[in-house]
Parts: sequence; structure tokens; C-alpha cells
Amino acid sequence: MREYTITQIQTIMISIEDLHKSYGKTQALNGIHLQVEPGELFAFLGPNGAGKTTTIRILTGLTRLTGGKVNIGGSDITTDPIAVKRLCGIVPQHINLDSELSVYENLDIHGRLFALSSDVRKQKIRELLEYIELADREKDLVKKLSGGLKRRVMIARALLHEPKVLFLDEPTVGLDAAIRRRIWALIKRVQRDGTTVFLTTHYIEEAEFLADRVAFIDLGAIKAIDTPGKLMEQLGVWALDQINGDDMETRYFTTRKEAAAYSASKDTGFTLRRVNLEDVFLSITGKKVL
Ligand SMILES: Nc1ncnc2c1ncn2[C@@H]1O[C@H](COP(=O)(O)OP(=O)(O)O)[C@@H](O)[C@H]1O
Ligand SMILES: [Mg+2]
Repeated sequence: MREYTITQIQTIMISIEDLHKSYGKTQALNGIHLQVEPGELFAFLGPNGAGKTTTIRILTGLTRLTGGKVNIGGSDITTDPIAVKRLCGIVPQHINLDSELSVYENLDIHGRLFALSSDVRKQKIRELLEYIELADREKDLVKKLSGGLKRRVMIARALLHEPKVLFLDEPTVGLDAAIRRRIWALIKRVQRDGTTVFLTTHYIEEAEFLADRVAFIDLGAIKAIDTPGKLMEQLGVWALDQINGDDMETRYFTTRKEAAAYSASKDTGFTLRRVNLEDVFLSITGKKVL
């Protein structure tokens, strides 16, 4: 009789079930449920204090959960933390490169921590410096680099041990618009090259531009989760803003024609614009992301 081997095809890269985290009396995460598919670019969008960093720190083994289950790439983070660490690359919210060392040395130290051989380190570092377009800066001390370049070095460092999932915590915070777009292009490229990406942000445009799916997080819980397009469709396509004293009232319409007809029927002035994720966030949570 012929024997068949069943190859398990991994259909879920990150699985989070009823995740809880408390810091003493502060309940930072209140039961998060979530699944991320391999190759997906997933964004956690929420205001400061929502629980974004806490989630990333738990998923990457930097903080312990206080309840629930997390599985990454088939390994449970509680019972198999070392396997999970190998699967994950992390770009933290704050720059944590060694500013007194060169770009090359910063990457080399990381390679040693992951026990990559000297030859592999040399080759991978060269490849990654090309990838982030910084090959000509490898000898420069990190303290001489701009904020945007430091972010790129942090992304290269996180990719050095070839993780299956790249976690980025607010990857463009504090960067100006042009630099931000270069980081976005790099993150998209990482996804295209086969890595699953999980990022947090409180920038609406960042989630809208980058993410295949977005989860709105507020007060340690997910309030909505879907593609940016589907989330926005719930409200409409066009928004009319009307200023009323200190308040702003917004109405939503499916077509531009309907919006134009409404504004023509009133005497007051309106501003017409497209619906964005901020509108959806506000309608669901009653607050703005920023
Ligand atoms: N180490 C800590 N000790 C105590 N409270 C913390 C700690 N880290 C985060 N918190 C609290 O947990 C909540 C979520 O924080 P955080 O995950 O940093 O949010 P975000 O990254 O979305 O801004 C906040 O109320 C924050 O004050
Ligand atoms: Mg944070």
C-alpha cells in the first residue's frame, strides 16, 4: 500500500486568544482575539495607552502575558519562547541602537546574539545594507545618522536572522512625511519578499497606506477589524464637514452627487473630502486616534 505524508500547510502565522495583561491594577489588555495569515501586513491602530506596545512586547517575548494563549508560526509563546524568538524580528518604538558603534557593528552584534557564523554574518549584513540602501554608510557611527536612517538600520537588524514575522512598533513616529514614505516603501518590500508584518501605529495614513487589515485598539480591546476599504465602506465614501462654533459635524455619503446635493440644499459652508479611517475610528470609539 502506498503511504502518503501529509504536509501541514500553515494557514495562520499569529494566533491570539483571549489575551490579557495587567500591570498591577492597570489592565493593559482586556481579552484580545486575533489571527494573522502568513504574508499579511497587519496594523494595530490606536491612541496612546491603547495597549499596542504591550501586545508587541508579549508577542515577541519581552513581557509575559497574564492570561490567554498566543501561538506564532506553530509555537506557543509560553511553552516555547525560544522558538518564537527565532521566528520574530522586532523594531521597537524607541531607537535602541548603540550610538557609539558603527552601523556594521550594530548589525554584527545582533548576528552574534543569534549565533550566526562569521561568514553568514558578513554576507547577510552586506546584503541587508544594500537592501536598505545604506551600503556606503556601514563604517559610520550610528550617532551620525538621521532619525530616518536609524530606523532603516533597525529594520535591517531585525531582518538579519531571517524572521518569519517582522514586528514594528510605531516605525515612523517623529519622522517627516518624505522620510516616512521611504520607510513605508521598505516595509512593503519586506512583505513582498515573503515576511509577515505586524505593525502598530497611531498614524491614520500609515495604516491606510500599508495594511492589508487593520484592528482598531482602544483601552486594551479590539473594537473593529477588517481591511481599510471595508472599514471605511461602513460609513460611506464622501464626508461633508460643517463647523458649528467649536464643534465639527460630519455627514457621510455614498456618492459625491448625494454629498453635493445635500450641501447645495443648505446655506452654510461645508468641506467635502473622502472618508478616512479616522472617521471610522471616531464613529466606533467616540474618540480620535491622535
Ligand atoms: N511597564 C508598565 N507598568 C505599568 N503600566 C504600564 C507599563 N507599560 C504600559 N503600561 C500601561 O498599559 C497601558 C497600555 O500601554 P501601551 O501598551 O504602552 O500602549 P500604547 O503602546 O498603545 O501607547 C497604558 O495604560 C500604560 O500606562
Ligand atoms: Mg506604544
